[in-house]
Amino acid sequence: MTGVEAGGFLRRVWFPPEPEQARRVRAYVEDCLLRWGLLDRFPVEAVALVATELFANALKHGKPDGRPLLVAIRWCGETFRVEVHDYNPQGPVLTWPADQDPEGRGLLLVDALCARWGHLPKRTGGKFVYAEIPALHEGR
Ligand SMILES: Nc1ncnc2c1ncn2[C@@H]1O[C@H](COP(=O)(O)OP(=O)(O)OP(=O)(O)O)[C@@H](O)[C@H]1O
Ligand SMILES: [Mg+2]
Repeated sequence: MTGVEAGGFLRRVWFPPEPEQARRVRAYVEDCLLRWGLLDRFPVEAVALVATELFANALKHGKPDGRPLLVAIRWCGETFRVEVHDYNPQGPVLTWPADQDPEGRGLLLVDALCARWGHLPKRTGGKFVYAEIPALHEGR
């Protein structure tokens, strides 16, 4: 689904709740940046990493139980926003794992790469997690 909303562009796609789909999520956000002519305006690798981390979290913590996961991409001016919807009303919590702990760093990466992130409840239950990547500036 592609649409122009008030002041921005929006695309939304449902993905099966499978780890292999992370590759498609990456390709999808890269395609949005390409179609909207934004490859020079936003950090492509950072956007793709944020999208796949949020997708991995929705799979791991979002209680999909076989249900598809909605990924929405919004571009508005200086902000590129990724949203991943899931079925768990509880929100993500930033953690600082011990050095020997192999997990728990995904959100630290998201936090470092984004200007803002958070989550909002859905009327149908569950929530969506959003993360906003700022535009690159001239000379960066
Ligand atoms: N979509 C989500 N729904 C509910 N809880 C979440 C969600 N995403 C993250 N969390 C919570 O926030 C914590 C931190 O997330 P983070 O992505 O940093 O770590 P992780 O997913 O446990 O490990 P890693 O990202 O290294 O695989 C998680 O352990 C989980 O408790
Ligand atoms: Mg994670």
